[in-house]
Amino acid sequence: MPDAPTWDLRIENVHAATMDPARSGHGAVRDASILVRDGAVAWVGARAEAPAGAARRTLDGEGGWVTPGLVDCHTHLVFGGTRVAEFEERLRGASYEDLARRGGGILSTVRATRAASDDALEAGAIHRLRTLAQQGVTALEIKSGYGLDLDTELRMLRVARRAAAVVGVRVRTTLLAAHAVPPEWADDRDGYVRLVCEEMIPRAAAEDLADAVDCFCESIAFTAEECGRVLAAGARHGLARRVHADQRTDSGGAALAAECGAASADHLEHTSEEGVRAMAAAGTAAVLLPGAAYTLRDPTVPPVDAFRRHGVPMAVATDLNPGSSPLRSPLLAMNMACTLFGLTPDEALLGMTRVAAGILGLEGGGTIRAGVPADLVIWDIEQPAELCYWMGGNPCRVVVRGGVPDTPGDAG
Ligand code: NIG
Ligand code: FE
Repeated sequence: MPDAPTWDLRIENVHAATMDPARSGHGAVRDASILVRDGAVAWVGARAEAPAGAARRTLDGEGGWVTPGLVDCHTHLVFGGTRVAEFEERLRGASYEDLARRGGGILSTVRATRAASDDALEAGAIHRLRTLAQQGVTALEIKSGYGLDLDTELRMLRVARRAAAVVGVRVRTTLLAAHAVPPEWADDRDGYVRLVCEEMIPRAAAEDLADAVDCFCESIAFTAEECGRVLAAGARHGLARRVHADQRTDSGGAALAAECGAASADHLEHTSEEGVRAMAAAGTAAVLLPGAAYTLRDPTVPPVDAFRRHGVPMAVATDLNPGSSPLRSPLLAMNMACTLFGLTPDEALLGMTRVAAGILGLEGGGTIRAGVPADLVIWDIEQPAELCYWMGGNPCRVVVRGGVPDTPGDAG
């Protein structure tokens, strides 16, 4: 009997963008080999130095590049209906705020989500998740926020977890009950904030349905004071904190996120230098969501230079949602982060891997290193910057999830 193979998987004939902070640049290793055993990376380095031993399976990277699996750290992909009619209205001149004040916007998706069955919500979420997964996403965050009542918020979180299990991606869920004031609480916003803090957050935490809490700090949503109460309640219940901050106006969201020890502040188009400084001091990362800025045609860009100067890490995410960012492509989000916001392709890739994984507290941290989960993508590209360069098409050749290769198809 021959000996059992030493490795479960050997990847050869590739270059690796490992994102390993111990290596320079994006951790590039040219002519690399990657060895996988028991679902984890066992070895990565130059092919000439690779340890010997038979592998159960060998993948030929055909001269392409391998990166860590992409991490989409900000999505709202569980929802009912669409907002295609509002898209058309905005093209005729209506603003996002006009629609929201008329009871459309987030509240129109709340109506559709409350009316949808669990099965319908799950089918829609799985469909959108598969689209992301086909483009190399192996982990992501999914928020609630279209239920705005206890039952529907918890239902959304359960659907998010189930959909991720079906598709085979890692997930972190976030309770975003403070997304808008629901109509039944329109005359008592304070009562709604109390409901979020005293019932929804404790239940989501007790049932282990949420990893984090989020809030929309904005003139059309919640004040910094209200958001502060929500974030404090999240912290008391052991949840990580995230903030939709300064998206449409400078509402002090970045400073609030820093003050509450948030893992990230997200959007940040209108953040002041003072807000950036507070984030740097608190270790709060920035999540840039160019799909929303593009869709809402906001010409103001986040203070990227200030984030660089103050050493605030920048993640990039799709913000996939039916209103402000119906963006189902992580690669297009990276492209927009470069073209609209001025990130370098290296920064955008780091932002969709290591920085994003850090915000979600994911084991392995969006890198390819010995010992981390083998979530990898082999791309049909000649250099990593191509991931940001092409618009449309899908250069993803193979996605490895927990050491198991899967060919997504639709490459080209
Ligand atoms: O991240 N800004 C608030 N929340 C979402 C939009 C939600 C919606 O319009 O449905 C966002 O852009
Ligand atoms: Fe969002």
